[in-house]
Amino acid sequence: MVTDKLPKAVIYKDGKLSFLDQTKLPMYEIYEEQHTPEQIYNSIKMLKVRGAPAIGIAGAYGLVVSVKKYINEPVDKFIMELKKTGEYLNSSRPTAVNLSWAVNRIIQRAENSFFNSSNELWYELEREAENIYNEDKKICANIGRYGAELIYDNFGILTHCNAGALAVSELGTALSPIYTALNEGKTFKVYADETRPLLQGARLTSYELQTAGVDVTLICDNMAAYAMSKGLIDVVIVGCDRVAANGDTANKIGTMNVAVLANYFKIPFYAACPSSTFDNMTLTGNDIVIELRDSSEVTHFGGVQTAPDNMKVLNPAFDVTPNELITGFITEYGIIKPPYVINLENILHKGRK
Ligand code: MRU
Repeated sequence: MVTDKLPKAVIYKDGKLSFLDQTKLPMYEIYEEQHTPEQIYNSIKMLKVRGAPAIGIAGAYGLVVSVKKYINEPVDKFIMELKKTGEYLNSSRPTAVNLSWAVNRIIQRAENSFFNSSNELWYELEREAENIYNEDKKICANIGRYGAELIYDNFGILTHCNAGALAVSELGTALSPIYTALNEGKTFKVYADETRPLLQGARLTSYELQTAGVDVTLICDNMAAYAMSKGLIDVVIVGCDRVAANGDTANKIGTMNVAVLANYFKIPFYAACPSSTFDNMTLTGNDIVIELRDSSEVTHFGGVQTAPDNMKVLNPAFDVTPNELITGFITEYGIIKPPYVINLENILHKGRK
């Protein structure tokens, strides 16, 4: 099974939380134990742990670990500290809805429980974080099952950024159909965009696909049009960080370029995600907050300065692909097609049943 070979982004065992430091991949596989809210906040902000579902999982466990020191306090005080810490962890990255979704789920669990002791409540919250992790595993497996139906023998698949095992609990979202198709014995090629400026495609996607034995070819972001024009790409599958009610979709910067190209070359473009990425409180892509990151990520490459001193830089971490460029969403409930305003809302109701 492919699963055995894949790296794990977040490990929680015997009350100890560790993140694989993805800033060091692919050269070093180092797990860093997480102790304080400040450390967890920084690990998320610095992308030691990254990818929408993984920062949700990290935030949920991170919150639980952070409030353990309050287990001897009265329940009111415990919940007050839980909310304060949750808000703080939520503020580490704004675009992916999964972080606030998971942290708020832990807080709501606490608010809806009737324990008289904070110690007992803490164990309940630990179980809730485990539930989030285990549910994500099942969701990713189902995304893989539905998404694999879109992959045929001899296909070329283009992906952008990393929406694989490193971005979730296990398997991935965009990469899960690829792992499932591999397990089913299909033969295909994957093209991974390198994904400037932080190279999630080169450092992470190439690394995990190669480790799993997938036929993967790395291309620079500006080579996608070439690959499509040469008939190398039959389908595009990417992940996503937040989907607005109308289907506009935030994902790693450069995703919109790929969607525009796919539209030009008439190649189907799919976004894969758990239904928790659908945010019906955000009406359109214009309402999605886009994280702006430090200019040094653009002016430097591998620690070497590659632009003049004092250069003005624009460094948005995400862009929003307009819904009309998206062929469908691959979710744990199946593939969702337009009209998105209706069909995404239906999926959210399914999830709440
Ligand atoms: O900045 P990152 O590396 O966290 O960005 C990650 C992405 O854009 C992924 O495609 C997205 O989170 C989906 S992960 C299953």
